[in-house]
Amino acid sequence: MKTIIITGGTGLIGKELTLYLLKEGYNVVISSRGTNKEEFISANQLQEYEGNLEVLELDYFKNSSINSFVEGLVRLNICPDSIIHNARSLDTLKIEENGQSSVENLLSEFRMGIVGPYELNNSILNSSIGNKLKNIIVISSIYGIVGPTPSLYKDFKRQSPIQYGITKAAQIHLTKELAVRLADRGIRVNAISYGGVEGRADEKFKERYSKFTPLKRMLNTKEVIKPVGFLLSDGASGMTGHNLIVDGGWTIW
Ligand SMILES: NC(=O)c1ccc[n+]([C@@H]2O[C@H](COP(=O)([O-])OP(=O)(O)OC[C@H]3O[C@@H](n4cnc5c(N)ncnc54)[C@H](OP(=O)(O)O)[C@@H]3O)[C@@H](O)[C@H]2O)c1
Repeated sequence: MKTIIITGGTGLIGKELTLYLLKEGYNVVISSRGTNKEEFISANQLQEYEGNLEVLELDYFKNSSINSFVEGLVRLNICPDSIIHNARSLDTLKIEENGQSSVENLLSEFRMGIVGPYELNNSILNSSIGNKLKNIIVISSIYGIVGPTPSLYKDFKRQSPIQYGITKAAQIHLTKELAVRLADRGIRVNAISYGGVEGRADEKFKERYSKFTPLKRMLNTKEVIKPVGFLLSDGASGMTGHNLIVDGGWTIW
């Protein structure tokens, strides 16, 4: 049975991925800053998967957190086949009154999207449970490919943080760097860039969004899971360093 780590498994997309991969027969380890296993199982009625799920604490802004997370894997003798770097922080996406972003938030967003995932990979690969790792997926965004569209927002300057797109672009390049550097270990590294996913957006935002994609809508949460399934499958065995765009066509216009 294959084992997969999903960072940010409690979030909008992470939860869908977790449910899908459990149902597909994976052992899944999710990270969370605060939710424990019992809470996650009871909130999502996952009692039948109790033996296939672990929830370990991870907070990229706490210094020893990555070490503790990996020590948890070692203690439980969990050797991951795959990692999905999916976590993101809404806290680091704040914008100042004048529409600019603070140095602190720029650096924190980079730590969250790049430094944390990089260090987590290394920490796993340098440990006794790193030998089985063969597949890494980085969850990026259309905003890592194209610039933001001001007319999508009611208040562009206050609602579209520059640090998000910069970091998402860096994640796509991190994917390529790691694909090169980890190929000798037989590890494939790919990114997925999603368009906007329904869940938090209000009706007015969805209406504006619909004008910018050929499919005329945001993605629904079900549409985010199968592309991950594909990259994990043997069908993608020839792919590494790729950025799979799942965006209803947003980036072709
Ligand atoms: N939603 C979209 O429309 C969309 C579109 C394109 C791309 N994406 C990308 O898809 C991924 C998931 O997005 P989402 O909307 O599902 O995110 P989300 O709902 O905000 O969830 C983020 C997850 O990250 C975890 N997290 C937050 N702060 C953390 C920290 N300091 N250290 C470690 N983990 C932390 C949270 O876990 P806890 O709170 O349990 O700690 C949570 O599970 C992100 O990379 C995002 O950029 C999303």
